[in-house]
Amino acid sequence: MGKDVIIACDFSSREETLSFLDKFTGTKPFVKIGMELYYAEGPQMVREIKARGHKIFLDLKLHDIPNTVKKAMSVLRNLDVDLVNLHAAGTRAMMEAALEGLTRPDGTRPLLIAVTQLTSTSQERMEQDLLIKEPLDQVVMHYAKTAQQAGLDGVVCSPLEAGKVHQVCGSSFLTVTPGVRFADGEVGDQVRVMTPEEAKRIGSDYIVVGRPITKAQDPVAAYERCVREFVD
Ligand code: C5P
Repeated sequence: MGKDVIIACDFSSREETLSFLDKFTGTKPFVKIGMELYYAEGPQMVREIKARGHKIFLDLKLHDIPNTVKKAMSVLRNLDVDLVNLHAAGTRAMMEAALEGLTRPDGTRPLLIAVTQLTSTSQERMEQDLLIKEPLDQVVMHYAKTAQQAGLDGVVCSPLEAGKVHQVCGSSFLTVTPGVRFADGEVGDQVRVMTPEEAKRIGSDYIVVGRPITKAQDPVAAYERCVREFVD
């Protein structure tokens, strides 16, 4: 899969989601389904969007004991999504179990990526709440390397970390980066942001863009602008 823009469909109902996707008549964007929509509408929503011809990143961030994650992944593999994720903090054993569960009897599987440290976690909170004393960027790189050793395909990370992840893990290790904003747009609650052009320059493989597209007056134009700045 090449560089692409993934739209975060952070909606809480089927109706809202489908009326948003109906606006895209010419293209079938890659979409991200997160916890909000999945918990509201369940696996049927995933099947329906897939049947409409979209690629899907199922962003459920699994984190549990290895056996439970393995079993959950072996259910998710039947949804025929393109990309799924988990928390690297679940350890290498959990990531290896996840890969096992995700692999279908014919050897195929969706791509599997790991969340390192959430972009909402600060150095201070990591030290105080998690008792991790190392610098945040070192922790992110260590988690990325561990994910790679476990056999995963890449990580979700801040666009600011994508270049370094590629240096450490190689350019074919995927970086999927949220926190993207247009130069002239609102930042909202994201703290460390980058424009699609900057994310391209730094080497992100996929950008995940939510509100700059979903809340735009013209979502299709906003999506096309992202594609122009990031992919073309
Ligand atoms: O609306 P916005 O562009 O901020 O949406 C970004 C999407 O990426 C949201 O679905 C958010 O949950 C997700 N995300 C994030 N930061 C992370 C991981 C996921 O913003 N570290």
